[in-house]
Amino acid sequence: MKLTVVGGGSTYTPELIDGFARLRDTLPITELVLVDPAAERLELVGGLARRIFAKQDHAGKVVTTSDLDAGVEGADAVLLQLRVGGQAAREQDETWPLECGCVGQETTGAGGLAKALRTVPVVLDIAERVRRANPDAWIIDFTNPVGIVTRALLQAGHKAVGLCNVAIGFQRKFAALLDVAPSEVHLDHVGLNHLTWERAVRLGGPEGENVLPRLLAEHGDAVADDLRLPRPVLDRLGVVPSYYLRYFYAHDEVVRELGSKPSRAAEVAAMEKELLEMYGDPALDEKPALLAKRGGAYYSEAAVDLAAALLGGGGSPYQVVNTYNNGTLPFLPDDAVIETQAAVGAHGAAPLPVAPVDPLYAGLIANVTAYEDLALEAALRGGRDRVFKALLAHPLVGQYAYADGLTDRLIAHNREHLAWA
Ligand code: G6P
Ligand code: MN
Repeated sequence: MKLTVVGGGSTYTPELIDGFARLRDTLPITELVLVDPAAERLELVGGLARRIFAKQDHAGKVVTTSDLDAGVEGADAVLLQLRVGGQAAREQDETWPLECGCVGQETTGAGGLAKALRTVPVVLDIAERVRRANPDAWIIDFTNPVGIVTRALLQAGHKAVGLCNVAIGFQRKFAALLDVAPSEVHLDHVGLNHLTWERAVRLGGPEGENVLPRLLAEHGDAVADDLRLPRPVLDRLGVVPSYYLRYFYAHDEVVRELGSKPSRAAEVAAMEKELLEMYGDPALDEKPALLAKRGGAYYSEAAVDLAAALLGGGGSPYQVVNTYNNGTLPFLPDDAVIETQAAVGAHGAAPLPVAPVDPLYAGLIANVTAYEDLALEAALRGGRDRVFKALLAHPLVGQYAYADGLTDRLIAHNREHLAWA
């Protein structure tokens, strides 16, 4: 099996390699291609990847290239994990919205819109080249904002599934708290990428006993601490929101916090520098502990599970993925992309039925879906008005004066990445 990672020169790639090596029985990779335009960084990451495979006796060949077309040739699956403009662009996304009193974040709010505008055209171009090289290849999109990017891919007719590690993170965490195997934990996970709630935690499968009330009663403090939300909020709702909901439920508090410390992008950039120095050391042959300080825990396990299922070789039968709604949430259009439990196999991802959604969550889901629709329009067709409308529709913006101020800043900071600006 040949697997290609676009954005393979990411400092995060060793997490992926470590998973590929550990889980080789689930996903038997014979050739792994890391594609990245940053040739120097790619060599450092590629060198470590080869040493990790060698140490773990993985016979798969690791190829590095900056030639995208050559890299995707003959690939069975292509994983997209790129970041247009790197951490420098992310730093901007996290900073200028604060000047308007709005959250500065890489996927939520105005920063997330900027990322979508930079990213969608690049990803669509890559996907087109993947299709030309091999129309049967599956595209697994980990590139943020995953909901909008996946919708762009599906709308253009690509064989794509979007992936995020939030659900697998909860599954692993809850399994540890309950002292059961992760595969025993089935989440009733509802919403959009980076806008989800766990409404039930079932043991054994979709029909299993719901142990969420017990989990919250026994471990509510630990869960709330992790999310940095007050425990009474979780108790009152009786669900577990993802940590991205803090940007909504505690927006003003987050804005104050962000204004008084260095950005996450700056923190990550410093870590990346340190990591690249480590990767250059020929004695290093495992993923360094420092990587655990990044947000992508269990990303490799989610990627292995999904690729294995899509390529027909195994993997968990039900996985949380991003795919077309197709009636699953009746209050959304069929072509909205939702993040949901799905039966996954060689046919792709088919969402499992979802119990009716309380207006408390349905309202926000519908609102952000409308924003994502307008955001994709702006990413595909450009223009100040489309950017303004997407921002006006966003529940964290809403007022025209904010939307105008944010639009001006978004365009000014991203001109080099926007063909129309
Ligand atoms: C989580 C999210 C990803 C996001 C990452 C950021 O894993 O699911 O979508 O990219 O966090 O982590 P970072 O270490 O870059 O802040
Ligand atoms: Mn994510």
